[in-house]
Amino acid sequence: MKIAIGSDHVGLELKPVIVEYLKELGHEVEDFGAYSKERTDYPIYGEKVAKAVIEGNYDCGIVMCGTGVGISIAANKIKGIRAVVCSEPYSAKLSKEHNNTNILAFGSRVIGSELAKMIVKEWLEAEFEGGRHANRVNMLDNM
Ligand code: RB5
Repeated sequence: MKIAIGSDHVGLELKPVIVEYLKELGHEVEDFGAYSKERTDYPIYGEKVAKAVIEGNYDCGIVMCGTGVGISIAANKIKGIRAVVCSEPYSAKLSKEHNNTNILAFGSRVIGSELAKMIVKEWLEAEFEGGRHANRVNMLDNM
């Protein structure tokens, strides 16, 4: 898959680990910043990754900030984005199967790198089930 990735300065703590992990799994990754630990603002990177996904150049996006909350809210402002912030793999998997999420977010101050990798793997391997969920996802997209 082609995956767009982004973080603020706090999410940058975890981002290199996730980039390496994605490459190990055989994915192509583009990092939309931040590129240094200098203080910055999570909306910038949530928006960049969300727009990259919506424009169709990437299969999905993964974003990080301190909690994953701010950057997921930013991404969800872009029409067509369904971003989920997860601290455990069950919600990550179900968010794809039922909600067809296209961006995964998590917090570098909330979870460690091994749990983050597990969440990423579950999310990437899960598939949207369609059926009764499709109409609900369409309702979300039409809001
Ligand atoms: C930055 O201090 C912090 O607020 C940010 O990384 C994130 O946690 C916001 O939701």
